[in-house]
Formats: sequence, structure tokens, C-alpha cells
Amino acid sequence: MAITEAARAPAGAAGAAPLLTVRGLEAWYGESHVLHGIDFDVAPGEVVTLLGRNGAGKTTTLKSIMGVIGKRKGSVALEGKETIDLPSRAIARLGIGFVPEERGIYSSLSVEENLMLPPKIREGGLSLERIFTLFPNLKERLRSQGTKLSGGEQQMLAIGRILRTGAHLLLLDEPTEGLAPVIIEQIGRTIAELKREGFTIILVEQNFRFAQTVADRHYVVEQGKVVDMIPNAELDANIDKLHRYLGV
Ligand SMILES: Nc1ncnc2c1ncn2[C@@H]1O[C@H](COP(=O)(O)OP(=O)(O)OP(=O)(O)O)[C@@H](O)[C@H]1O
Ligand SMILES: [Mg+2]
Repeated sequence: MAITEAARAPAGAAGAAPLLTVRGLEAWYGESHVLHGIDFDVAPGEVVTLLGRNGAGKTTTLKSIMGVIGKRKGSVALEGKETIDLPSRAIARLGIGFVPEERGIYSSLSVEENLMLPPKIREGGLSLERIFTLFPNLKERLRSQGTKLSGGEQQMLAIGRILRTGAHLLLLDEPTEGLAPVIIEQIGRTIAELKREGFTIILVEQNFRFAQTVADRHYVVEQGKVVDMIPNAELDANIDKLHRYLGV
């Protein structure tokens, strides 16, 4: 299988240099070697997903891009700039924002305080007004405490506060997990809107039916490697293969 070839040919961005280039990325938790050479590209303005079974290494790939992992090696270049030896703070300042699966909402703080918490890292962050247009629920709940929010509201808050920082490459880890279908739809519309505004998004998803509604391409992760790339337009034709990959 021509994995590297697939990784090097981002569709939907003819001729554009990749925004993010990941090559031979390896990562460890302590002694435990978890990523074994991840290769993929993301073009500017693209939405790509990382699909794969539990424990395949999707979350670890996001953490490794962000530099929040015990040890990593290989190459992660943003707009041609190598980041593998940078601390996570410096990586964030380049414009990469991570929304972890746990969402990281402070329960003792209000929605507003949570929103204002992450520092602005660069120009171009969305205003609070713009964030409230994307997530009207957050405006209504501005004074509510973090603990009082539904799972969907917490997810919106987690995404919203990253948009304020000026990050332009968003790493979203299973944003729809555990949410009701109507909330998943809203998250989907938001991702589409962010794409229209020029954000680039790497989305980890278990729910590939949802992924299909928002993504340009899908990378399949298996045992710490990217083993395939499926353009979104070819997903239906490859559904049996995908089921085998995901074991569903
Ligand atoms: N903090 C950790 N310490 C040690 N091993 C870890 C840690 N986090 C994850 N792992 C291991 O690393 C491997 C990859 O995990 P990872 O969380 O990246 O998978 P994933 O694809 O995100 O899975 P899931 O779909 O369950 O979220 C798994 O074998 C997991 O057990
Ligand atoms: Mg995970």
C-alpha cells in the first residue's frame, strides 16, 4: 500500500503547500512505545479525521503534535517550520490549539471565566461576539458554573475558548462523544462554519457517519501508524474496508 504517497497528496488543495506535515512521528509514555512512525499531511483549510480502533494512537497523535507527551521523535512541521524540539507552549504560539476529549472545563469557574482563561497566543482570534454567534447557548449560560453545563455545552465552551486564542489549526479529540444527535448536528455545523472561515481541523472521531458530514479526507490509524487515507468522496465505496479497519 502506498501510504506515503497517499499522505503526500492532499486532495482539495491543488498545489497548496501543506499546513502541517507529519513524518515518522514516534511517541512514548514512559517506556511504552505507542506511535511507530505516523505519516500524514493536512492542507490549509482542510478538515481531516483520524479514524481507528480504541488504543490505535489517535489521541496520542494529537498530543504528540501539541508536544504534550513524555517523548516524541520524527518530524512535525507547521508551515515548513520544524516543531519536534519545541516545548508545547512554543507550539501553541505557532497557532495550534488542542481540545482534549476530557474538555478541561473548570467546574468552579463560570462559563465566562472559562472562556477567558486560555491566553491569546496570536492575532486573529475570534471575538466573544463571534463565539456567541457560533454557540448561542454559551451566551445564555455566561454566568453559569462549569459544573452546571450539559456535555454539549461543555464541548462548545471547550471549542469556543480555543477559538479566542488565535489558534488556526484545531485538534479536536472526539468532540461528539456522548452527545445527543441534535447537539452533534450543531457541532457539525460549527465545524463546517470554521472551515469556511479558513480554520484547519484535525478531528479524531469514532463516529465516522458524523466524520463523513464534515471532513475532506480520512486517515486510518492502526497500532501507531497511518495505514490508509480515504478521500471523503470515496468513503461510501470503501465502507466495507473501513468497517474492517474499525472492527465494527
Ligand atoms: N497515559 C498513558 N500512559 C501509558 N499508556 C498510554 C497512556 N495513554 C494511552 N496509552 C496507550 O497508548 C496507546 C494509544 O492510546 P491512544 O489514547 O492514543 O488511543 P486512541 O486511538 O485515542 O484510542 P481511543 O479510541 O480509545 O481514544 C494505547 O495502547 C493506550 O493504552
Ligand atoms: Mg483517544
